Amino acid sequence: MLFAGRAAAQQVTIPVETQHNAIVLQTDAEKHLNMVYLGAKLANTAEYAGISKMYKQADDSGVQNDAYTPSGSASLGEPAITVTHADGNKSLNLTYVSHTVSKVDDDISLLVVTMKDPAYDFEVKLYYKTYFKEDVTEQWSVIKHNEKGIVTLDKYASANLNLKGNTTGGFWLKQYHGNWAMEMQPEEARLTHGIKTIDSKLGTRANLYEHSMFAISMDKPATEDEGKVLYGAMEWSGNFRIDFELDVANNLKIIAGINNAASEYHLKPGVEFTTPAFLYTYSDHGKGDASRKLQSWARQYKIVDGNGSRLTLLNNWESTYFDFNESKLAGLLKDTKKLGVDLFLLDDGWFGNSHPRNGDNAGLGDWQENKQKLPNGISSLVKEAQANGVKFGIWIEPEMVNPASDLYKAHPDWVIKQPNRPEKYFRNQLVLDLANPKVQDFVFGVVDGLFTKNPDLAYIKWDCNAVIYNAYSAYLKKDQSHIYVDYVNGLYNVLKRVRAKYPKVPLMLCSGGGGRVDYGALQYFTEFWPSDNTDPLERVFIQWEYSFFYPAITSSNHVTDWGKQPIKFRVDVAMMGKMGFDIVIGKLSESELSFCQSALKNYDALKDVIWHGDQYRLASPWDNDAASIMYVSDDKSKAVMFNYLVNNRYGSGTKVPVRLKGLDPNKKYRVKEINLYPGAGSVLGKEDLTFTGDFLMNVGINPGNSAYHTSVVLQLEAI
Ligand code: DGJ
Repeated sequence: MLFAGRAAAQQVTIPVETQHNAIVLQTDAEKHLNMVYLGAKLANTAEYAGISKMYKQADDSGVQNDAYTPSGSASLGEPAITVTHADGNKSLNLTYVSHTVSKVDDDISLLVVTMKDPAYDFEVKLYYKTYFKEDVTEQWSVIKHNEKGIVTLDKYASANLNLKGNTTGGFWLKQYHGNWAMEMQPEEARLTHGIKTIDSKLGTRANLYEHSMFAISMDKPATEDEGKVLYGAMEWSGNFRIDFELDVANNLKIIAGINNAASEYHLKPGVEFTTPAFLYTYSDHGKGDASRKLQSWARQYKIVDGNGSRLTLLNNWESTYFDFNESKLAGLLKDTKKLGVDLFLLDDGWFGNSHPRNGDNAGLGDWQENKQKLPNGISSLVKEAQANGVKFGIWIEPEMVNPASDLYKAHPDWVIKQPNRPEKYFRNQLVLDLANPKVQDFVFGVVDGLFTKNPDLAYIKWDCNAVIYNAYSAYLKKDQSHIYVDYVNGLYNVLKRVRAKYPKVPLMLCSGGGGRVDYGALQYFTEFWPSDNTDPLERVFIQWEYSFFYPAITSSNHVTDWGKQPIKFRVDVAMMGKMGFDIVIGKLSESELSFCQSALKNYDALKDVIWHGDQYRLASPWDNDAASIMYVSDDKSKAVMFNYLVNNRYGSGTKVPVRLKGLDPNKKYRVKEINLYPGAGSVLGKEDLTFTGDFLMNVGINPGNSAYHTSVVLQLEAI
């Protein structure tokens, strides 16, 4: 279906509706396109046309609602786009020309609005891809011109949203900062007038310090079940910038896109520049509803095999680091089977000969098996794994190079570094120049070579540990300011090629922990590594915060020796996602091993609910002695509730029941504590109890967390 709108003198109103929400675009008397509404959809669509009359319009007061704010003409707010025309003029004016709405399928629609500068042959198309059932929008822009010469894009945002001011509590921004092993530290504060910016200039590993994902609550901070909240994030794995501008009339303008710092882009006539998408959803029912929408959208449309299965695994990073050989690995393959997981994942340290990878200072770039450690190569390990009845996966970091490597010596021009400055290293390494198609071929070749030589290789962990210092590409010559953008597009080219040839093979997105988690990258991956911090106490908080944006199936949670918690706590925390292990199995006592083995059986029975069910955050670790989180199957016949004591002081614990959510009030559920440590009794007192969904959601259940029951997993089954 295709509806075409015509340029007309009269006002054009374009409502973009999803199941519960609407965005309304509207032209003004000068044919400027404004976003006049973003919120719950109105019952009477005819009323959209009148929304703007309720607000002061663009005038001397400086209040503007441009759907994509140009700079240097009549708009005075923070621009979404700034250009230098071919003649050197910096003024851009964009007026509405036409729009089309097409239906991609029953769920997805695409609105494209074309705008042009009346004085220059310069065009911007705004794309709004909406997912009706999920209430999600992906928005991007395509910029083109036919001027006589190069036009420089000084700023080129993906999206420009306008949220209408209100008389009550303003806008509240929830944002994230962090660092290595400290990912996803939240902060929430009321926005004041002026501009607040969150951004990254790190190039690769772009959200090491800040994330592009955020939540804006309206009136007051939304809770899990109440309040108006907009969630947004860039689908971009490089430098990003999001400006939040609160204007004099208390309207909030959000401008999200690639960070334009040191990144002006030179656009030839006739060539299209497509920005990455900015993703958002809105809910009138709090953060829980908004994040379930995002999770369901991600499973269905974004991540690889979101409705499919995942492999449990044993990783050797923390048990061996770089110190292993074939006989050690043979033992680990046996342990993999003994533990009862699906796959053994060989981490860093397996490659490099003239510069053996025995530490993090050598070998990156030389992706040949180290002959001393692995004289019979990867293929013999894959076979040996199969002989043990498990699969085999491997770690790579193909975007990087150590100066101590053959690759660095052979191709110094493939490395991002300034020709006239000393090299500056991050973890002793440099970043390869993925703007260069030859480097893209090389990186694709690393992955393709592994799969071609080892067709039964079942999993890859793709790491990225360095940021870009001294940005300079020998390949880009005069277009140095393209480097950050072309790098990411080069990376996506490689990942597209990998996915074209290996559509479903599980790939883990890792970046020295969670330094690069975003939906731009995740469309090529099945899962991500949230943090190198695997202390389960810390992980409760880290996983909790990731869960606002990402479904549990994407979160690789490994049981390790970090922290002081008992094995039960560690396993229970890893279970709320995609479970794995990174411990020395031989060091486990008999009862610890048998606990892990039976927990894996429980996980097997519940993983479908955890991976594909609806998630409800019940009690926050930030506000309570214990955190509670649950997952409910689509048909509400199965659920699992995880409860972790995070404040283990004298007398702390769950003293009142926790109300469950998402159940069928009319169903009866058998509640049973699972993952009981050998010899331990259930907190429920009995083997199992039955309650109606009505009781569990209105009265609740006390998970009984205390110093004696630091973690409790309850399984619910409708009877
Ligand atoms: C950083 C990752 O986050 C770790 O899990 C591990 O793979 C190391 N790199 C290996 O160098």
